[in-house]
Amino acid sequence: KQAVGLVGWRGMVGSVLMQRMRDENDFSLFEPVFFSTSNAGGPAPKWAEGAPALQDAHDIEALKKLPIIVTAQGGDYTTAIFPKLRATGWDGIWIDAASTLRMKDDAIIVLDPVNRPVIDAAMSRGIKNFIGGNCTVSCMLMGLAGLFNNDLVQWMTCMTYQAASGGGAQHMRELLTQFGLLNGAVKSLLDDPASAILEIDRGVLRAQQDDSLPHEHFGVPLGGSLIPWIDKDLGNGMSREEWKGEVETNKILGRGPAFGSPLTPIDSLCVRIGAMRCHSQALTIKLTRDVPLDEIEAMLREGSKWAKVIPNEREATMKDLTPVAVTGTLDIPVGRLRKMSMGTEYLSAFTVGDQLLWGAAEPLRRMLRIVLG
Ligand code: HSE
Repeated sequence: KQAVGLVGWRGMVGSVLMQRMRDENDFSLFEPVFFSTSNAGGPAPKWAEGAPALQDAHDIEALKKLPIIVTAQGGDYTTAIFPKLRATGWDGIWIDAASTLRMKDDAIIVLDPVNRPVIDAAMSRGIKNFIGGNCTVSCMLMGLAGLFNNDLVQWMTCMTYQAASGGGAQHMRELLTQFGLLNGAVKSLLDDPASAILEIDRGVLRAQQDDSLPHEHFGVPLGGSLIPWIDKDLGNGMSREEWKGEVETNKILGRGPAFGSPLTPIDSLCVRIGAMRCHSQALTIKLTRDVPLDEIEAMLREGSKWAKVIPNEREATMKDLTPVAVTGTLDIPVGRLRKMSMGTEYLSAFTVGDQLLWGAAEPLRRMLRIVLG
């Protein structure tokens, strides 16, 4: 069995990844070597029977010995370690969740249910860097694979509703702390059925606008509000998250000038909302041709076995097309499907995905399986 180095396995994405790998019995396929940035020499996790003591994740000599490294440690780690490791001549397989290397020419963005041919072609060209995509992009593609496979998307806009987890574990905590403090600020009024709702509203706003409400991670209150900007300001009116929507989708699908084909325009407006770990997206899709809705639904179902078409009805939507319904599952429901008033080639859709599963962990563990054969 091959040895696989695991870095960043204890963080939020890493923990979800380890759980999925245990659930799918992936550990029977390789010998794990766990690395740590803070506890080298400490014991490997109890559930990984027989694994050696933790190695130092900054020790290039130790990393170099592994034919395969999987990291969910984050972008700063990749930036610091990856070039040094490659500079030693290491030619192992690097599987990474961070965005650092995604758009490099010698890296492939992996989402094998959607782009297995792109992955296979890259492996036969000797590509060794396999990077998980942006969570919003991966979840959208897992839902809409059927439309892209049938070359039905001329252009698309994505209005996103992104969960706190996309920022990280601390962001989730901050959101919940804010919710709690906001509730606490008006608790006695809430408990009194005779109190005036506008007084409660004023009390909440006062607490939201009070600088003492913890907001170190999001920068502003998110509880009871939203933030229509995610990631860096690119200075052209676009956020980095919005830019990723177009460039990563095209790269995953092997489209665009780099592949000798036209770019599929995808324009987004990305918004942080107070959900925990599911990213949702409202999509406007300009179809390349008028296809009846029932055929579109059939294509979506065939696109991936995780895409679930939700009837465009109130009850089904409320039950099955929400972050609460999807969290912790690999399902990617796609609903609110209808032709828009702009014309029969305009399709409206809404999709939800667990950003820690298809958005982060799942493509990595599946790529590891592909590499292991
Ligand atoms: N950039 C994403 C977000 C995280 O902030 O929601 C995962 O790619």
